[in-house]
Amino acid sequence: MAPVAASRKPATTNTSGHPALTALYQLGGEGDPKIVEGIYDQWASSYDSDILGDDHGYVGPQTAVRALVRAGVTPLSHILDAGCGTGLVGVYLAQAGYVEVDGIDLSPAMLKQAEKTNSYKALKTVDLTRNIPVPDAVYDGLTCVGTLTHGHVGPRVLNEFVRVVKPNGVIVATVLEDIWDDGFEAETQQLAKDKKVDILGMDIEPYRAGAGVCARTLVMRRR
Ligand SMILES: C[S@@+](CC[C@H](N)C(=O)[O-])C[C@H]1O[C@@H](n2cnc3c(N)ncnc32)[C@H](O)[C@@H]1O
Repeated sequence: MAPVAASRKPATTNTSGHPALTALYQLGGEGDPKIVEGIYDQWASSYDSDILGDDHGYVGPQTAVRALVRAGVTPLSHILDAGCGTGLVGVYLAQAGYVEVDGIDLSPAMLKQAEKTNSYKALKTVDLTRNIPVPDAVYDGLTCVGTLTHGHVGPRVLNEFVRVVKPNGVIVATVLEDIWDDGFEAETQQLAKDKKVDILGMDIEPYRAGAGVCARTLVMRRR
């Protein structure tokens, strides 16, 4: 079956008027990685204080790590944090006891911030709109938080996530609720239909809680 492409409907999700987020969301669908990288490189030094501030009240990272723990992924597991950004997820993973975490992201400046958290074993620049340069079945768990959203990475990446986790490995990905119908649900259901994964959850949960924005917490176990 042909993969489902990202669609390009205009973003209506509340950005709380943040210029970088507004510019990113306006890209729609899967944004041009060069443009996305440029915006994040500029934003990297103030990203944490902006996104964790009251205007956004970002809770995606802790929600995702909670889901990973709930799915039974144990602390000694090898985890890939895809679209790791400044490392907010890595910090929560470390607090939950995970010590073998690798991070990949498009933006070198975001990765530089992630390095300062000391939460990652390895950090690498990777474009998730292309094949992930990792062999099959390497990771026990994978997190992807805040990266499946307007103008970022489309639903095809879910196949790559399944490929790089081991059988029984768990994938936790937040998908902005407003784009769930733009191919993400279809791709998820196709993976289940093809017996590549079991879907453990896709609850709608607060994401940028301060802006009233929700995301799906997609949890899948590879077969
Ligand atoms: C909203 S931030 C989320 C970062 C982090 N996971 C968090 O929860 O704070 C989105 C991240 O996705 C990354 N990103 C966007 N497009 C990407 C792509 N094509 N490949 C890899 N990373 C990408 C950005 O560089 C940015 O760090």
